[in-house]
Amino acid sequence: MSQQRQLKLGAMVHGVGHGWGEWRHPQAQPDASTNFGFYKQQAQLAEAAKFDFVFIADSLHIHEKSSPHYLNRFEPLTILSALAAVTSNIGLVATVTVSYTEPYQVARQFASLDHISGGRAGWNVVTSWLSGTADNFGKAEHPPHAVRYRIAKEHVNVVKGLWDSWEDDAFAYNKQSGEFFTPGKLHALEHKGEFFSVKGPLNIARSRQGQPVIFQAGTSEDGRNFAAGNSDAIFVGAEGFDEARTYYQDLKKRAKGFGRDAAELSILPGIRPIVGRDEAEVEDRYQQAVELVTIEDAIVALGRPFNDHDFSQYPLDAPFPELGDLGSNSQKGGSDRIKQLARDEGLTLREVALRFSQPRRDFVGTPEQVADAIEQWFEGGAADGFIINSLLPDGLQYFTELVVPVLQQRGLFRDEYSGNTLRDNLGLAVPANRHTTPKVQAKSEAVA
Ligand SMILES: Cc1cc2nc3c(=O)[nH]c(=O)nc-3n(C[C@H](O)[C@H](O)[C@H](O)COP(=O)(O)O)c2cc1C
Repeated sequence: MSQQRQLKLGAMVHGVGHGWGEWRHPQAQPDASTNFGFYKQQAQLAEAAKFDFVFIADSLHIHEKSSPHYLNRFEPLTILSALAAVTSNIGLVATVTVSYTEPYQVARQFASLDHISGGRAGWNVVTSWLSGTADNFGKAEHPPHAVRYRIAKEHVNVVKGLWDSWEDDAFAYNKQSGEFFTPGKLHALEHKGEFFSVKGPLNIARSRQGQPVIFQAGTSEDGRNFAAGNSDAIFVGAEGFDEARTYYQDLKKRAKGFGRDAAELSILPGIRPIVGRDEAEVEDRYQQAVELVTIEDAIVALGRPFNDHDFSQYPLDAPFPELGDLGSNSQKGGSDRIKQLARDEGLTLREVALRFSQPRRDFVGTPEQVADAIEQWFEGGAADGFIINSLLPDGLQYFTELVVPVLQQRGLFRDEYSGNTLRDNLGLAVPANRHTTPKVQAKSEAVA
């Protein structure tokens, strides 16, 4: 089994859910998004099932029509620091924007989480798609899409540079001589770039995994190039197998174009499985999920990738409106995809809204059927693993208790952790410190 390529699995822990209606399910905890007990229970469920990581999404701007989870939720690094104390192997991936943060602070926060958790931190690098975010950070305008990706590239480079401020054996801790650290093993960054000026060094050492793992989510042309060149794992939304496969091949090709080993870049579509023990339970649970989505909520949700555009102004059953370049400074990749789909299939506004809000059928079924779909995507060149989103309050529990054992029986997923850093989980090497003269990098255990 050790030779067989293994699935990577992440659990998106998302409080009361993505949509507007999930909090109203009879079993939902309406305060889940700010309930530590809920997050702890979900993270421990995922860890018991040997998941690679938990994943916390985020954004920094709300208004009255934002979804319930957006309105009232934890800041990612804070909740993950708390989860670090009640878990021991599972990775902890936080979404943090580059458009409204300073690299020094981000580097320090992730390095701290990495130490607190014993080397389990990951950073999901996003560029923020809601223009109203600018109003919360004293900025005159939301940076244009292309500029956001230029900022992203520089920001991540600076953060990675800061993470290497201290060589791994820099701290001598010699009580007799009084040498706290070895001179020459501390390095200032001296960065002066287009957007950031950062002298360094950072005031915290590297952790057992060397540097936190870089995730990325963004699907436009700029987003794809940024992801292929800079990230270890990519979180992507996928319409179906064919689209996911095309995206997968494209990203792997781009990674090779950047001189990388494409196998080191994991492509992880977000999926929303609905599992039942038999056909009757599958159908019952699917209908429960369908009933949580009203057309009014679906119309509001459709606005999300278009900078929360108000789609209620258009007739529901007329052809999808002509939107020009609306969305191109928001989620460009996502909004372009919606426009293209509506055009290609000649859909009405109602049909488009429901297509993106109602639960899909791809990963709905008995444990064997859901495992079959996962295996098909994994073996068919469409995914290296998945980020599991739960539509129903007990969705993660159903998935971990019913589907994971089938994947384990098939040899597709581990039944025990083989290490306890996020890099160990994902099979990623510890990156050498750029200031250390080439030598064989020890495994993460030896860098402690
Ligand atoms: C699957 C997926 C998940 C995303 N999650 C977040 C998120 O949690 N927070 C955020 O600010 N942006 C998120 N984004 C948005 C992107 O990072 C990016 O800011 C925006 O989509 C514009 O880039 P794009 O046009 O390349 O997609 C996500 C995008 C995708 C495709």
